[in-house]
Amino acid sequence: MKGLILFLGKGGVGKTTLSASLASLLSRDGSRVYLASLDPAHNVFDFFGLEPRRGVMQLREGFYVEEVDEEEWLKRFLRETTEKMNSTYRYLTVIGLEDMFDVLKHSPGMEEFALLSALDSIVRHWSEQTDYIVIDTPPTGLTMRLFSLPAATVRWIEKLKGLRRKIIKRRAEIAHIKGSEAFPEGVAITEEDDLVIKELEQQRAFSERVLKLLTDRNKTRNVLVLNYDELSIREGADIIRDLRRLGMDISLVVFNKSDILSVKKEVLEEFMEVVRGLPVYEVPFFSDKAPPRERDREIASVFLKEFCS
Ligand SMILES: Nc1ncnc2c1ncn2[C@@H]1O[C@H](COP(=O)(O)OP(=O)(O)OP(=O)(O)O)[C@@H](O)[C@H]1O
Ligand SMILES: [Mg+2]
Repeated sequence: MKGLILFLGKGGVGKTTLSASLASLLSRDGSRVYLASLDPAHNVFDFFGLEPRRGVMQLREGFYVEEVDEEEWLKRFLRETTEKMNSTYRYLTVIGLEDMFDVLKHSPGMEEFALLSALDSIVRHWSEQTDYIVIDTPPTGLTMRLFSLPAATVRWIEKLKGLRRKIIKRRAEIAHIKGSEAFPEGVAITEEDDLVIKELEQQRAFSERVLKLLTDRNKTRNVLVLNYDELSIREGADIIRDLRRLGMDISLVVFNKSDILSVKKEVLEEFMEVVRGLPVYEVPFFSDKAPPRERDREIASVFLKEFCS
């Protein structure tokens, strides 16, 4: 894979139009491309004039499109977690996790974890088979929570591992005095045998893998899409600030519908200071009746050179 390209920006600025146009153009120019929408309110198939559908659709040779089913990933994530919990704590029959399924589903962080697992799995699957993976991201708030999750998880896991080590140490002390029969079968008294430590290590590996990918500036390119209006520019500035805090950044800025101007000069100047040094492009507003998919070449060729190696 040459690149993972994510399109970010306020609702309605043109993320879907620009991401789908770029993916389509790259594929028409001979690259193998996988385009996914992670936005729960999908409209990627709509861009191509197609009915929404489940799963991956091949639109032409080497061009794959998918609207990622968040609900499906959430269920998969919960099912796997439940299975792991049941096997890790098989000596505890009282947890009754199945009954918790619906509660867990709506717990904070679940949506983010599900989408992050989807992104990880997409990259692992498609990076072998394609040159570019293009992602139409969810609304800004959710995207930023998604991006901040891996680093936060790594820190949490370190704390949890510390606590777990203490528990195991205590068990070992008790077993030393009372003999290992003091514990039911399946209760580990060494770190090597402990399934909880193993699971924490797996979770850590997952978070580190995603973190590495998101912060890899050679591979991962974040495209910020804006309009010349105050709200999308302010939200864009917030996105950049949050990304930089996470060790990430925008690679390029695209002002879409650039002939529609409704922003004060000072707001724009202030923003241009924030993105100083970054490439900035303009895609005009096409006011004729032709759907944007018929304009994909015109739309994406504006910033295409950023992705040609
Ligand atoms: N350059 C353009 N010229 C004309 N129409 C455009 C252009 N870019 C986008 N549009 C239209 O503007 C609308 C919003 O664009 P789009 O759906 O791509 O935005 P979005 O950022 O994906 O929105 P959402 O956050 O709702 O998913 C669509 O109707 C699209 O066809
Ligand atoms: Mg969209």
